[in-house]
Amino acid sequence: MCIQGKILSHFKVYAQDMEAGKIIQVFAESGFQIDPEALDILRMSASPELIQDVLKSIDNSVLVVGTEHIKTSSTITVLSDITNQSTCIGEYTDFVQYFKHRHSLLGDMLRKRISGRPIESIKKRNLDTREQLSLIGMIMDIRTTANGHKLIEIEDTTGTISVLIHKEKDKELFELANTILLDEVIGVTGTLSSDGNLMFANKIIRPDIPNTQRTMLDRARAKGKAVFISDIHVGSKTFLEDAWLNFVEWLGDDINGINYLVIAGDVVDGIGVFPNQDKELAILDIYEQYERAAAYLEAVPKHIKIVISPGNHDAVRQAEPQPRLPERITSVFRSDITFVGNPAMVDIGGAKVLIYHGRSMDDIIASIPGFSYADPTKPMSEMLKLRHLSPIYGGRVSIAPEKEDHFVIDLVPDILHCGHVHTVGVSRYRDVLTVNSGTWQSQTEFQKRMNLKPMPARATVVDLASMDYRVMSFLPA
Ligand SMILES: [Fe+2]
Repeated sequence: MCIQGKILSHFKVYAQDMEAGKIIQVFAESGFQIDPEALDILRMSASPELIQDVLKSIDNSVLVVGTEHIKTSSTITVLSDITNQSTCIGEYTDFVQYFKHRHSLLGDMLRKRISGRPIESIKKRNLDTREQLSLIGMIMDIRTTANGHKLIEIEDTTGTISVLIHKEKDKELFELANTILLDEVIGVTGTLSSDGNLMFANKIIRPDIPNTQRTMLDRARAKGKAVFISDIHVGSKTFLEDAWLNFVEWLGDDINGINYLVIAGDVVDGIGVFPNQDKELAILDIYEQYERAAAYLEAVPKHIKIVISPGNHDAVRQAEPQPRLPERITSVFRSDITFVGNPAMVDIGGAKVLIYHGRSMDDIIASIPGFSYADPTKPMSEMLKLRHLSPIYGGRVSIAPEKEDHFVIDLVPDILHCGHVHTVGVSRYRDVLTVNSGTWQSQTEFQKRMNLKPMPARATVVDLASMDYRVMSFLPA
């Protein structure tokens, strides 16, 4: 059998169940090894076509297939997306499985740094109250005691325990304790009370992302210029058409050399998203809103590849993760647009971009003292530290209990792109560029009442090779 036929027969068997071992096997049978990062990208893409492309493009001089061999020129590859993978029906048992999966994935990341013991075994131990013990668990409750200390309740699959963080013992530890969120998974090291029911924390660790610099090789791998925007809100009376047309004209100018346009949700204003929304709408029909949006994007030059992920104003299920827009809507847009779910990880020009509309920022900002809508990159850094896009269950985000937790940040992105809050912020957390791309509508009545000040008509331009960025304003002079 020719090599192509051999590969294709593998795909038939494994396309539904793309495990690392099987990808390694496919490469091994063609005489190649594969490095762990390249393996991760291929595994998460679950794309037999991508593997086929890689195998076709490498020659026999290659011994180990690396990330540099994964096709990067002006291409968009979807690495992970909930679309067509939703399994939930919303039963209680689904939630049990969902949280178990979260605990297990994030627990595995923490176990590389501390050796957590099962909570029940720790509580029974009770031999020496000076002995340092570690555990890994999910935050079930957070309280402040009458004396101002933090008391958190942590659960793992064996039991629960209360953990006290003393307000004066370690200032840095106490500051970290103030940022702890419900339902996140953390590791704690501390000593036990004599009855074994309370732990006094000495150290708290989060899954976090590695503190390594991207290598020169990585930087050379990514190329092209990408523009990040979100929250266009076509159909709203406050949509800033003049600014939008300025923006499209700028995109069309070859001198700017733009290759990609990434849109992180709220393409249209939607219908019935909040009470009395109809009074704020210029287009009252959801399909007409999308037809108008499609016409606006039609004017974007064809060489610019577009990715669209939905938000809470879009016409998909409200529970997150959200699948991509349905066929009835995507079919009115130009056919070269890549529609993905929310969240989704895509490779654009060799850079890994994690797109999440960002509704969880409402919950994170409300939970952490000092956080505000004025700086949306702070909650985005928290997401990276937690390795989770939407930890809090039961807040503003309605979480669908999928079998797997699609909010866990498994593969570390080069760029985390959010929207939703309508303010602009670009920052870096370790090696990751965090972009919140603002909006294309001026202040709404609701925002006036809430005293929220949007930053409209901005676009963030990123050079994917250097990760240098520029925020541009398209407000008419
Ligand atoms: Fe929005």
